[in-house]
Amino acid sequence: MSATDEPTGAGASGAGPGSRIVGYAGLAAIDGTGDVQTIAVAYDHWGTGLGARLLTELLTTATAFECREVLLEVRVDNTRAQRLYERFGFEPVGVRRGYYQPGNVDALVMRLTDPDSAVRGTTHGPES
Ligand SMILES: CC(C)(COP(=O)(O)OP(=O)(O)OC[C@H]1O[C@@H](n2cnc3c(N)ncnc32)[C@H](O)[C@@H]1OP(=O)(O)O)[C@@H](O)C(=O)NCCC(=O)NCCS
Repeated sequence: MSATDEPTGAGASGAGPGSRIVGYAGLAAIDGTGDVQTIAVAYDHWGTGLGARLLTELLTTATAFECREVLLEVRVDNTRAQRLYERFGFEPVGVRRGYYQPGNVDALVMRLTDPDSAVRGTTHGPES
């Protein structure tokens, strides 16, 4: 899924003429477990709540695919992303040493149980 900067504020669709993609996110769902493959927002849109909207969409999708839990990896030094995930109820469950190469940076593994409740409980959902 992606988000564009069209004046209508359209949330998740392809970029039309004169618009550009300012955020995207992807989820893999296998056997009741979701995995956040990617999530990113254009730098000039950081802090506008777009990251939270994309994550809300991912968790809604995970619920539709009957995921009981959602996992992700995040760089240990990416505190901004970690705060976003924590706000939705993700908790650290482990570390993968040297996961990000080059640079040999460790990944923090985070896990969310019950993605449906997380979306309904957040104050940064799609309508905020
Ligand atoms: C991580 C990332 C996706 C977050 O996206 P974002 O759009 O900035 O996220 P949000 O705006 O929803 O939330 C970020 C902050 O803005 C604040 N915020 C949200 N909506 C806001 C609004 N309307 N007005 C002001 N601030 C707002 C949030 O409270 C949050 O603050 P906090 O981090 O101090 O808690 C983005 O920084 C990014 O793309 N980073 C590079 C790629 C990356 O690291 N991806 C993660 C890989 S695991």
